[in-house]
Amino acid sequence: MNRVKPCTLETSLVQLGVGFDDRTGAISIPIHPSATYRHPGVGESTGYDYTRSGNPTRQVLEEGLAKLEGGARGLVFSSGMAALTTFFLHFSHGDHLVVSEDLYGGTYRVLDQIFTGFGLTASYVDTTSTAKVESAIRENTKALLLETPGNPLLGISDLEALGKLCRKHNLLYAVDNTFLSPILQRPFEFGADLVIYSATKYLGGHNDLCAGVLVTRNEEFGERLYFLQNSTGAILPPIDCWLLLRSLKTLTLRIERHCRNAMLVADWLKQHPKVTAIYYPGLAEHPGHELSCRQASGFGGMLSFRVATAETARTTLKRLQLISFAESLGGVESLMTLPAVQTHGDIPEAERQRLGICERLLRLSVGIESPEDIIADLEQALA
Ligand SMILES: Cc1ncc(COP(=O)(O)O)c(C=O)c1O
Repeated sequence: MNRVKPCTLETSLVQLGVGFDDRTGAISIPIHPSATYRHPGVGESTGYDYTRSGNPTRQVLEEGLAKLEGGARGLVFSSGMAALTTFFLHFSHGDHLVVSEDLYGGTYRVLDQIFTGFGLTASYVDTTSTAKVESAIRENTKALLLETPGNPLLGISDLEALGKLCRKHNLLYAVDNTFLSPILQRPFEFGADLVIYSATKYLGGHNDLCAGVLVTRNEEFGERLYFLQNSTGAILPPIDCWLLLRSLKTLTLRIERHCRNAMLVADWLKQHPKVTAIYYPGLAEHPGHELSCRQASGFGGMLSFRVATAETARTTLKRLQLISFAESLGGVESLMTLPAVQTHGDIPEAERQRLGICERLLRLSVGIESPEDIIADLEQALA
């Protein structure tokens, strides 16, 4: 069937999977649960042999994600950590990584408590300083992995400058783009080799799915990661692939609303007497604001703020009525967390204190509810 090629990102998202099933004309792509596939003859294949190696529902999702990101190959995993783990499996004993220090605690945990056992080491660096990243590079450094905005302090790293640095030192350049999504930030345009997502967050967007994504800029690295995924098996089940496809269709709308709400909430929190510091790149006083305006088309739905005492932080969480006190982020429902105890609990205490991840710091994933209701809940919880 001849179709007008959708050209904008937003249209491509809405049209994901449409036209895949020409036999029935289904608008929603079918879920293919089959674990295995009948071969027409010896040495012949329909293109699908065994579902760990390839599945039609997953294929539509993976191809769609690669296209949306502007990359060569997309792979979807059973979680963001499965995606990150598969990336780390690419390296060998003796290799070294430079990793942003303001990053998800689970990424730190898998490197620090599992991969060091296999001889892969990492240095955690303030990637908002390109000079600090350069001085952390060693002879055996193979890659730079960063999150920008950082997690939970929302620091902004210079994607372009770091891309040049990676080229200069021949490093693989990997960006965990979970906080902003491809709608707001496009790491390949700054030279990234790999874009990573916890699709549990904005891509899934409804707090009802756990998934991860890797998208590579070139086919060769994509093939290597596919080999690792197919060998170790952390694939996303077909039903979850379908759920993620469905969620992606509304990503643009959701992200617009997350950004708008977060800006309103940040402005409101900024003037609250009990809030001693606020971290949101959309605020003009945020140190990464200008850089953020240059390299992203919006500031996202994540913000953190500090209150005067640990007791105030705990009471605020207890009093929340609309916003849920829960880990995770990026869903339509607003969630608040205490990073020092939850998402970043596995980072050693001294390191957390150095970074400023103390028990007075709260992280808010601003959902798409009415902003007045979110603010009213914060008001009564902080009162
Ligand atoms: C930025 C970031 N990357 C990766 C992950 C891990 O993803 P998942 O929880 O889907 O395994 C998380 C989880 O919170 C995250 O926030």
